[in-house]
Amino acid sequence: MWRPPERIRYEATLGRMPSRAEAAAARLFQPVAIGPVQLEQRTWVPAMVPWRATDEGYVTDDVIDWYERFARGRPGAIVVEATGIRDVPSGPLLRIGHDRFLPGLRRLTDAVRRASEGHTRLLIQLIDFLAIRRRPEPDKFFSRFLTITDAHRRALGDPSLPEDEVRVRLRGLSGEELARVLTPGEREALQFGYRERVTDMHLAHVRDLPASMPGLFADAAVRAQEAGFDGVELHYAHAYTMASFLSRTNTREDGYGGARENRARLPLDVFAEVRRRVRSDFAVGCRFLAEECIEGGSELADTVYFGVAFAKAGMDFLSTSRGGKFDDAKQPGVGDAAYPYTGRSGYECMPQFISDARGPFGRNVAPTAAIRRAIHDAGLATPVVCTGGIHNFEMAEKLLIEDQCDVVGAARQSLADPDWFRKIELGLGDTVRICEYTNYCEGLDQKHKPVTCQLWDKLPSDDGARRTPDGKRRLTAPAWVP
Ligand SMILES: Cc1cc2nc3c(=O)[nH]c(=O)nc-3n(C[C@H](O)[C@H](O)[C@H](O)COP(=O)(O)O)c2cc1C
Ligand code: SF4
Repeated sequence: MWRPPERIRYEATLGRMPSRAEAAAARLFQPVAIGPVQLEQRTWVPAMVPWRATDEGYVTDDVIDWYERFARGRPGAIVVEATGIRDVPSGPLLRIGHDRFLPGLRRLTDAVRRASEGHTRLLIQLIDFLAIRRRPEPDKFFSRFLTITDAHRRALGDPSLPEDEVRVRLRGLSGEELARVLTPGEREALQFGYRERVTDMHLAHVRDLPASMPGLFADAAVRAQEAGFDGVELHYAHAYTMASFLSRTNTREDGYGGARENRARLPLDVFAEVRRRVRSDFAVGCRFLAEECIEGGSELADTVYFGVAFAKAGMDFLSTSRGGKFDDAKQPGVGDAAYPYTGRSGYECMPQFISDARGPFGRNVAPTAAIRRAIHDAGLATPVVCTGGIHNFEMAEKLLIEDQCDVVGAARQSLADPDWFRKIELGLGDTVRICEYTNYCEGLDQKHKPVTCQLWDKLPSDDGARRTPDGKRRLTAPAWVP
């Protein structure tokens, strides 16, 4: 992962912990409504893909264990990992694109309800993404993947060259010569792996996204409702389809790109269709970027506009993230796919303990607070969830008291210690296992390996915890009994 050149090291600390009585009065532990759904407290476990689904996208016992473990900490809400809305093979990513996924998802909602004893509300993050392929072997690229065109023949100086000969000659060119002969898209396909963009208007299915997306998201949301979730989080963040529509890099000329209001159009259409199709007691919100953190990407003025537009449209909550884009991702190794958390924008999404003068804690607070302020200035009070490096009570409570956000999200801290909110609430904050922000977990995510935390995965499984197939790592945090 990219790291800021300053390389300043930071350490998360427990901070001052409240007594049980103080905690009871703290804003963090007061209820909040996300539209029709009441959270018992303002604590939130954001979506985290743990790579525990089957290769066909079904819920497994390991998926159940993972969410049960978070549920035992009784946060106000848990958002289930990014879950694919299409009925297409997506590797071991959880899926909700067909009714056959419902029994597993139902088991999941039951398990969370039981494990939290009804204290935690459960949402699921709905994701769509465009095709991305692994970086090819150059030989395979030139012999099979590249579509040979007359432009290649012209560039090679012989318009009548047979296709096989074009392939052989291209294979023999130097990097510099290839830069002259291949289009930017072809070069990217060779050096990074082929990747579709929302601006690929020559592809019918990309051109038709404004027609296909609302129905696909709405079908998935209806399934989520049938499976017993309390709501959905539409994934409008990071490197995926809807975030790409919102991005300032979206230059589509069909009314869904260019100006801010056009870029917001499809995300608003999707929300409207989802809202129309689900019950009124089902929460619908989205996760979007407070800043894209890429050159030429959306900035605060754009995202404030989006936040207000989403609130005006009636979203029940807004959860912010930052960065996490393909645009500045590192070149993957041959045989690997680009990963949107390897560049500077990836760092902004999951900042590590080695950082710059701003440090890794709360980098998304200021832009999130600006979005929230604009929503309030517009006369609305849509709750806003802020996430990013938040790891102790003092920090979380300050954000709430200063009206920077309404709900506090903590992903890695909750992975390090799924009971941390509960421990604080019970006045046992000194026993919290604090995240070191090393991004060991994120490294596993990158390799699509089961995500675990280095603070507990080497401990024995004397509490019956399941382990990774090689037996080396626990799959869930050790049990904690208050
Ligand atoms: C292993 C892992 C998987 C993640 N998966 C998702 C995801 O599915 N959807 C999403 O919106 N964010 C995902 N994130 C980002 C987190 O939700 C969160 O925004 C980020 O880790 C920063 O918050 P933190 O500092 O509290 O960890 C993931 C993060 C990690 C570490
Ligand atoms: S592995 Fe554990 S300690 Fe390290 S960043 Fe992830 S959650 Fe934090």
